Amino acid sequence: MYDPQSPTLLSGEALKDPYAVYEDMRRQAPVYYDRLAHAWCILTFDGVRQVLKDADGFSSDHLRERAEPVLGARVLAQMTGSEHDEKKVATLRGLAEIAMDGYYLPAVEHTMSRLWEKAEGKTSIDFVSEIANPFAIEVTCRLIGIGQRWQNRVVPWNRSVVEFITLLQKEPHDMSRRLADAGYFRAFILRLLEVRRRQPRRDLLSFLARQGSEYGFSDNEIVALALNIFLAASEPLDKVMSYMVFEMLNMPDVFATVKENPREVSKFLVEVLRLHPPVQIIPRISVGEQTVEGVSIPAGSMVYCLIGAAHRDPRQFKDPGVFVLGREDNLIRSAFSPSAQHVAFGSGLHFCIGSMLARRQLEAAFRVSMDYLDHWQLAADPLEERGLYTRGPSHLRLERTRS
Ligand code: HEM
Repeated sequence: MYDPQSPTLLSGEALKDPYAVYEDMRRQAPVYYDRLAHAWCILTFDGVRQVLKDADGFSSDHLRERAEPVLGARVLAQMTGSEHDEKKVATLRGLAEIAMDGYYLPAVEHTMSRLWEKAEGKTSIDFVSEIANPFAIEVTCRLIGIGQRWQNRVVPWNRSVVEFITLLQKEPHDMSRRLADAGYFRAFILRLLEVRRRQPRRDLLSFLARQGSEYGFSDNEIVALALNIFLAASEPLDKVMSYMVFEMLNMPDVFATVKENPREVSKFLVEVLRLHPPVQIIPRISVGEQTVEGVSIPAGSMVYCLIGAAHRDPRQFKDPGVFVLGREDNLIRSAFSPSAQHVAFGSGLHFCIGSMLARRQLEAAFRVSMDYLDHWQLAADPLEERGLYTRGPSHLRLERTRS
């Protein structure tokens, strides 16, 4: 039985409605110790930002156990200092080369319109499984350099990697299957890297095959980075896209405004990211005793930055639960940079390196979608959500309009 006096992230309630559980926690303290999850939960915007900005006081050492066994080597999120700077610059350069070359974004748009066209003859669809999910996989594979015929093969491997990293409670038996899948995924990427060395194309693996060693990447690190980018780029994409469609169809007046002026899509996206951040938990480990919001956190503790709670902190956002297009406290100007007024992309040293690319992908795909959305409406009881570490729609049911 869930007890609002001692709320926990490991309850069915948290899976059903994490925001209600965050509020129960916030009523207890701005930094709440979840005894079942063995984690200090940071519930305020200032607290979350303080933790994320202090990479010396709060480390990402948990990734040694949570991510390294499946990724096979250390990744950016575990690095600091000059090693982090050099490898981040290299990765950003690789991503920019692809995003800017005038070939990738039209392919993103084309993928989205092809998926909508496939739904043309139907009277109802599940947007998540029929459009958002295949979209996220296809554009991420293209980014990394995984050909279309391999996509069905890598999807279950990627799922295993994601689950290994994000499940809050782990069953040992299931974890060994996920470790095995991750091994197949790494072996596959390593072979592909060798192919791209001989036959380069316009993708991230070809860039790293050509220039990775200049930036100090070993082959194992390139493979780990490719797996890391696969999950970091694809996991949030279908979730944000689905929430964009849900909110748009839910608010006809906002739909009309954005349709009339497609430049408003950026404002719309930023507010969706605030109200429905796909990454809900960013974990850290306290290095030495730390104080957040006046609460003392012992050395070596697990600390969960709760992004959804920070985004509904009434001290930071006016009427935090309400969708407001172009709100003053979530301005578009800085929204995809480390000085953003929200923390959907994190903050500080490990701020997301894909924020600009995600913006381009999502805006391009959404502009294409707006024409198709005229013919669709939300079905009864349209939205089901799942997940806590990362959270998004598992189903979004649409039906064709009669007109
Ligand atoms: C809407 C889309 C996205 C969201 C909401 C998102 C969210 C985040 C968040 C919250 C972090 C911080 C994690 C931490 O501090 O531990 C992060 C880091 C990261 N993201 Fe994203 N991300 C998105 C898209 C992407 C894309 C498209 C890519 C790559 C193409 C990417 C690659 C990365 C990488 C490599 C890091 C680690 C950076 C570092 O440690 O220096 N992300 N992302």
